[in-house]
Amino acid sequence: MIKKAVEVALNEQINAEFKSAYLYLSMSAYFQATGLSGCANWMRVQYQEELAHATRFFDYLNERGGKVKLSPITEVQVDFSGIVDVFEKTLEHEQVVTAMIDHLMDISIQESDHATKSFLQWFVDEQVEEEANVGQILNNLTLIKGEGQGLLMMDREMQNRVFVNPFAPKA
Ligand code: FEO
Repeated sequence: MIKKAVEVALNEQINAEFKSAYLYLSMSAYFQATGLSGCANWMRVQYQEELAHATRFFDYLNERGGKVKLSPITEVQVDFSGIVDVFEKTLEHEQVVTAMIDHLMDISIQESDHATKSFLQWFVDEQVEEEANVGQILNNLTLIKGEGQGLLMMDREMQNRVFVNPFAPKA
């Protein structure tokens, strides 16, 4: 049976992943409204990834015999001052999520919950990639000064991102 402290932290993580999805969908709407349809697509894929993360935590807690408790999702930001602001907020948000995953890992270690430690390792690695990807986008935005022809080209490239469910059964 899963320990109470781990169950509480996993439920907090489910909420955080759904909140991430909600935030990125809000950012997608912002980009759509400002005419950056490639960036809107990128954020839509990000939203789908977060839903997949939330669902994976949900399934894991069920598999371990824990009780899933879905809490309200707090309000997310809807207005931004531009593309750089959006990606800075994205990086800040991912850093918060990374800290939460690290905290969950600490609790699993304290509680000698080896199954949860093993489960979480994928997310530890994923957070490194998430932060690096957003950092790269912010670097690119600095190079093109967030405007002009460079921004149009970048937006076109962002259109190419497609969602691949990392937890889909392998064919
Ligand atoms: Fe589910 Fe972007 O962390």
